[in-house]
Amino acid sequence: MAIFEKFRGLEEVRAGLMKAGIDPFNITLEHIYSATEADIRGKRTILAGTNNYLGLTFDPECIEASCTAAQEQGTGTTGSRMANGTFAGHAALEKEFAAYYNRRGAIVFSTGYIANLAMLSTLAGPGDVILLDADSHASIYDGCRLGGAEVVRFRHNDPEDLEKRLRRLGDRASNTLIVVEGIYSMLGDIAPLADIAAIKKSYGAWLLVDEAHSLGILGDHGRGLAEEVGVEADVDFVVGTFSKSLGATGGYCVSDHPQLDAIRYAGRPYIFTASPSPSVIASTRKALEILQARPELRVQLWKNARSLYESLTDMGFTLGPQVSPVVAVRLEDKKQAFGAWMQLLEQGVYVNLVLPPAAPDGSALLRCSMSAAHTPEQIDRIVEAFSTLPNTAATSRTA
Ligand SMILES: Cc1ncc(COP(=O)(O)O)c(C=O)c1O
Repeated sequence: MAIFEKFRGLEEVRAGLMKAGIDPFNITLEHIYSATEADIRGKRTILAGTNNYLGLTFDPECIEASCTAAQEQGTGTTGSRMANGTFAGHAALEKEFAAYYNRRGAIVFSTGYIANLAMLSTLAGPGDVILLDADSHASIYDGCRLGGAEVVRFRHNDPEDLEKRLRRLGDRASNTLIVVEGIYSMLGDIAPLADIAAIKKSYGAWLLVDEAHSLGILGDHGRGLAEEVGVEADVDFVVGTFSKSLGATGGYCVSDHPQLDAIRYAGRPYIFTASPSPSVIASTRKALEILQARPELRVQLWKNARSLYESLTDMGFTLGPQVSPVVAVRLEDKKQAFGAWMQLLEQGVYVNLVLPPAAPDGSALLRCSMSAAHTPEQIDRIVEAFSTLPNTAATSRTA
């Protein structure tokens, strides 16, 4: 059929992968044992690529809150936030997010993807400019496209390039929304946010920071990179997700701007989709409480991240530039990456295989994400599995 013609190239790639007997982008977790173990293809496997940073998906208090909410409020809201989909829990969670961030307001969305879609498409339309880091997540790009603002990209993590582009905008600089992430999801590198915030201030522009991978991970209270580097007052909008350190699904934005509520009336991705189910809201509220009450989870996560990063570095792998809970092994060759990924899986270790264009700079990645729930024995097994990859260390050493 003609409308499927455009997928022919994709089908050929997929057929090539299937020849090896497995589609790395269509893996099923057949039985889930814990935050860090599941059966994949009938084999008990260590999950080393899940974004389950604090390991809260199996926290007994989160599970209990979730079950109770389902029993008391039903399985779903069956409606948009704007219609019948705001239950008391949604409103309470917004208050809790605002209080946690010391912000005037917060909005809860159905996912982090939708939070970016809603915020960017509603804040910046035709005539406005969005200046975004070139390595931004797809949800940020899609939000820009939906709103129709002029999009200008600056070089990844390069404040000088950002400033150059702002300068070129002249009078329009003050009508520009700068968008960056805290920790970048693919390589685990961290934005130079203090410099970016200073530039934003000097041009009177606006700043949105997506802390999807830094909530619960950076900052004394876990509020993310802006807290870590002391620039929260310069960040106009913080966007985040429940789907990583909070162990559920959903998204949010916090801000001090009194007009934030305009998003509720004008943001199509807020209005035209159902709200998170009561069980998700209840577990997220509990997880947000735990994230604040148990900073030791953050300490353990960093200990685990450092341990894996150092072991893989010692083995000669080329990793992302900084230690962070995202530990990405860079390989230059897609085929080699796929073979290595399969071999890890056969040894009972699941990591994310990331191929271009999803991986930056045309590289292929074996992306690990560490969890506070990983035990030292599991980390040893991950390292052991990597140590068996043929020639990989030698090849990547030159990358
Ligand atoms: C930087 C970033 N923003 C937003 C999202 C979307 O989050 P969610 O999974 O809640 O849709 C992700 C998820 O991968 C992400 O990495």
